[in-house]
Amino acid sequence: MNRVETERPKLADHRTPFIFNEWYVAALSSEVTRDLMARTFLSRSVLLYRKLDGSVAAIRNRCPHRSFPLAHGTLDGDDVICGYHGLKFGSSGRCIEVPSQDSVPAAMKVQAFPIVERPPFVWIWMGDPALADPAAIPDHHWLSAPDYAAYSGYLHCKSNYIRLHENVLDLTHFPYVHGEATGGLDYISAPTVIRTEGDSVSITRRLKDGRSTQAMDG
Ligand code: FES
Repeated sequence: MNRVETERPKLADHRTPFIFNEWYVAALSSEVTRDLMARTFLSRSVLLYRKLDGSVAAIRNRCPHRSFPLAHGTLDGDDVICGYHGLKFGSSGRCIEVPSQDSVPAAMKVQAFPIVERPPFVWIWMGDPALADPAAIPDHHWLSAPDYAAYSGYLHCKSNYIRLHENVLDLTHFPYVHGEATGGLDYISAPTVIRTEGDSVSITRRLKDGRSTQAMDG
């Protein structure tokens, strides 16, 4: 007897390729300063810093000469000087100075990434720059709206990011994993509204006269 194969939706796991053409939170605005800061996105090390006009620059954290991490160099105005042989790069990623010679090879440049700052976040686009549309950045106005209480911070999770998505899309683990201080049984039994719109899913759980009204978007 022949077995009938049925198509099942595949769940994402550690083998799922990265999605490049999307906006990602690169940092909190307060984290990006005049100090050179390296952070890894989609397995690529990126150098972030704030330019003199206050805007944020993001370039690949790897000198094209001998692969030295540019975050270990120095900032000169809006330009980065590599800490190995002194090549200087503009915030566009183009090499503008080679101290040991008169000319700069045209191919000497590092990748620059589109950045949009919408406090409290700095957003980065790791994919095709031509597709980077700031209108696609998810709305997060409640993080700075006076009628909402918001908490933010940096949490380093030693796991695949897929696990984090799975974790935060179902907060009924709160009282069991984190204790009742983060939400008791009244929290997990509150009516839940799940909405899908385009590529995003939102889950809203309201507690009347309780201490939390929580919305998660993913
Ligand atoms: S490795 Fe950067 S200048 Fe040589």
